[in-house]
Amino acid sequence: MKLLACTWAFWALAFCLAQATKDICTAKPKDLLEPMCIYRNPDPEVQPIKDPEKIPNGTNPRVWELSKANSLFALSFFKQLAEGKSSDENIFLSPISISTAFAMTKLGACNTTLEQLMKVFRFDSIKEKTSDQVHYFFAKLNCRLYRKKHKTTELISANRLFGDKSMHFNESFQHISEMVYGAKLMPLNFKEKPEVSRLAINEWIANKTENRIKDTLPEGSIDSNTILVLVNTIYFKGQWKHKFDKQNVMKVDFHVSKTHQCPVSMMYQERKFQYAKITDDKVKILELPYNGGEITMVLILPTDGITLSEVVANMTLKKLVGWIHAMKETSVSVQVPRFRIEDSFSLKEQLTKMGLEDLFSPENASLPGMVADDGPNLYISDAYHKAFLEVNEEGSEAAAATAVVATGRSLNIFRDYFVADQPFLLLIRESSINALIFTGRVSNPCESS
Ligand SMILES: *[C@@H]1O[C@H](CO)[C@@H](O)[C@H](O)[C@H]1NC(C)=O
Ligand SMILES: *[C@@H]1O[C@H](CO)[C@@H](O)[C@H](O)[C@H]1NC(C)=O
Ligand SMILES: *[C@@H]1O[C@H](CO)[C@@H](O)[C@H](O)[C@H]1NC(C)=O
Ligand SMILES: *[C@@H]1O[C@H](CO)[C@@H](O)[C@H](O)[C@H]1NC(C)=O
Ligand SMILES: *[C@@H]1O[C@H](CO)[C@@H](O)[C@H](O)[C@H]1NC(C)=O
Ligand SMILES: *[C@@H]1O[C@H](CO)[C@@H](O)[C@H](O)[C@H]1NC(C)=O
Repeated sequence: MKLLACTWAFWALAFCLAQATKDICTAKPKDLLEPMCIYRNPDPEVQPIKDPEKIPNGTNPRVWELSKANSLFALSFFKQLAEGKSSDENIFLSPISISTAFAMTKLGACNTTLEQLMKVFRFDSIKEKTSDQVHYFFAKLNCRLYRKKHKTTELISANRLFGDKSMHFNESFQHISEMVYGAKLMPLNFKEKPEVSRLAINEWIANKTENRIKDTLPEGSIDSNTILVLVNTIYFKGQWKHKFDKQNVMKVDFHVSKTHQCPVSMMYQERKFQYAKITDDKVKILELPYNGGEITMVLILPTDGITLSEVVANMTLKKLVGWIHAMKETSVSVQVPRFRIEDSFSLKEQLTKMGLEDLFSPENASLPGMVADDGPNLYISDAYHKAFLEVNEEGSEAAAATAVVATGRSLNIFRDYFVADQPFLLLIRESSINALIFTGRVSNPCESS
């Protein structure tokens, strides 16, 4: 039966191949469906990003290119969020998983819906061959990110489209989306049972993330007009390669702003880390590796009295990459607070502001690749993102203030310091291809009493 299905259509063949190999990570581009529509940037001004650095060994150049496009999106999305929030609010998100989720819709998009997807997610900044097959290279990228399991590091992502069961969705689109992004479109009864559907979606997410991410869709987010909902979640838990000693944790004040302070449990250690002080841009940058090697946390701290908002406003991808490359192994005295951040928001609201309008518009959306023929116009009703990070899970209060910290510090006057007692930026990245898995702003890590 499988063989029969494999012969009657190209997409079915693709599906069967994938079934046979059972591994998208070893698939070839020709094994996958061609996108329904192609967008070509008519404006030759937009040049592909020039890469001064060498593409790392063993990395597909197209995956590398895609990763760059994702980083460009990550920065502009982060800036967009930062502008909408007051400077004492935390921000935390996984830009790469947002890009992944929307690449899924690109496969079925045409016309200006496609054009806007290409522009907002910066898929127009990469070579045509890469952007045409962007779902294929996303699969490769995700293979790299998610399959590299380390015992103590968890990185779990879940993407899925939920559609009203009255709609007929294109089977081949569903198969590809399952193959590349790990989940088929799930039909739900939005029309008659919106609340039940909402709970079902939240339960699915909780299940996929080992109950770490709950209640993603807020009450009232699904109603009887909902047609299609895109859900994208990610969960990360890593253990430091070099743990902080519980003995060295002490309560200090974190300066949320000039006038607002609050207590945090400040962790402390001294050792050699990748570190740089960038005098021109007035920042310090430090990299803390997680167990397993490739995933690291990069912290960026303003210096010379400038605010984090100023740093963010001036930051470009080129600058950021420059800072990262400027880091050298240095003996640093590090102080980083324990914290736990969680953030969630409507992607529809944010992305619409960035120009992704048609995908969410009942009149203007063009997603012909998603519906079975003669289906009514499809559009994305809404899209939510929720992310959560716990930097140190050994967060018991057992570690009281000790004098060790102060003593350690005063003895080493020539050492560099990285004292995160004021708002800082945080990136969790895959260091070999510099994929930004998470970006965040820790403005208020204070322990809620
Ligand atoms: C890249 O990989 C090849 C083959 O694995 C190896 O021979 C070469 O030395 C590597 N180059 C670098 C710069 O690591
Ligand atoms: C939009 O896409 C449809 C196919 O879904 C096509 O028939 C139509 O010509 C396209 N319109 C434009 C302006 O490209
Ligand atoms: C997730 O769902 C599967 C199948 O429905 C079930 O076997 C599993 O126990 C669930 N996992 C969690 C964490 O709820
Ligand atoms: C932002 O960049 C501009 C131009 O490079 C520079 O003049 C300005 O001082 C920068 N501001 C900060 C806070 O770094
Ligand atoms: C649909 O597109 C038209 C023409 O670009 C625009 O005027 C209208 O506001 C759009 N509708 C929505 C809901 O975005
Ligand atoms: C589903 O999409 C594929 C490829 O985009 C197309 O060839 C096929 O005709 C579509 N099927 C239906 C039932 O519309």
